[in-house]
Amino acid sequence: MADMTTALGATRLPNPVMTASGCAANGKELHRFFPVSDLGAFTTKTVMRDPRSGRPTPRMAETDSGMLNSIGLQGPGIETFCVDDLPWLATQGARVLVSVAGGTAEEFGEVVDRLVTSPGWPAVVGVEANISCPNVANRGLVFACDPVSSERVVRIVRGRVPAGTPVFAKLTPDVTDVVAIASAALGAGATGLTMINTLLGVVVDTDRLRPRLAGVTGGLSGPAILPVAVRAVWQVTAAMRAGLLPRAPVIGVGGVRTGADALQLVAAGASAVQVGTATFNDPSAPRRVLAELEAEIDRHGFDRFADVVGIAHERTAAP
Ligand code: FUM
Repeated sequence: MADMTTALGATRLPNPVMTASGCAANGKELHRFFPVSDLGAFTTKTVMRDPRSGRPTPRMAETDSGMLNSIGLQGPGIETFCVDDLPWLATQGARVLVSVAGGTAEEFGEVVDRLVTSPGWPAVVGVEANISCPNVANRGLVFACDPVSSERVVRIVRGRVPAGTPVFAKLTPDVTDVVAIASAALGAGATGLTMINTLLGVVVDTDRLRPRLAGVTGGLSGPAILPVAVRAVWQVTAAMRAGLLPRAPVIGVGGVRTGADALQLVAAGASAVQVGTATFNDPSAPRRVLAELEAEIDRHGFDRFADVVGIAHERTAAP
């Protein structure tokens, strides 16, 4: 079997498969299907400073090859997370990527200030700054739509976590130039990037002739968005390879259902892959995708996962 280890900055993980934020709560439900410590990392539901009930229902709508959600960052808030959820994940031996968000850049900092004092902090392998949730009332709060806002948030998060803790900025593909946003995030001290969050969409109920979601808009996820995720990973890692961006690890996410889907993101340049929406109809999907990805890498005759990262760029350049 190939060596599946991967690196997120200075942190090494035993394998490159993670949950995607928001699709497996904070681990207890998934742990009924497989040990969460089997994964390279467990990415938490985005945690904010205060408890939130989220947007009004209905807030899920199925689409062809995907779904829309308009959850609105529902969650118990950072206090409960630090006292209950993170220590539980630490007890299970999980490596935890904590997804954080705030209504303002400063609120991201407040969340991180509390996070680092949790007894579960030693289990944290990185902080993912969710600057791209589409389910906010004001599009101005999708920080990742604007390089200056992205830079401000990442600089605050970077400044509040201990040196050496990887910080990943989660980006949206709903921008004209994702490379410009990546540049702002890396320039502000992000260790790496997570791409992509969901795409903003609307579904109209053709019986009632009104939007299916109470919040009107929602984030599109599922198999429909895999090529968009591969495109974003490709564009940003191509810019890194061309010397237009600093080299940095990328976590690929969006529409992964199988090991072959994960392999697309890896070959396009991702050093790790998150599995999200697939978990809703197959809770074992992250563990299965890991096994399938290992089999794919063996099938191609590679000894090391790391040798496959970005290989499609090299094969594109080859005659
Ligand atoms: O609405 C939500 O909780 C989704 C968050 C996200 O897509 O980042």
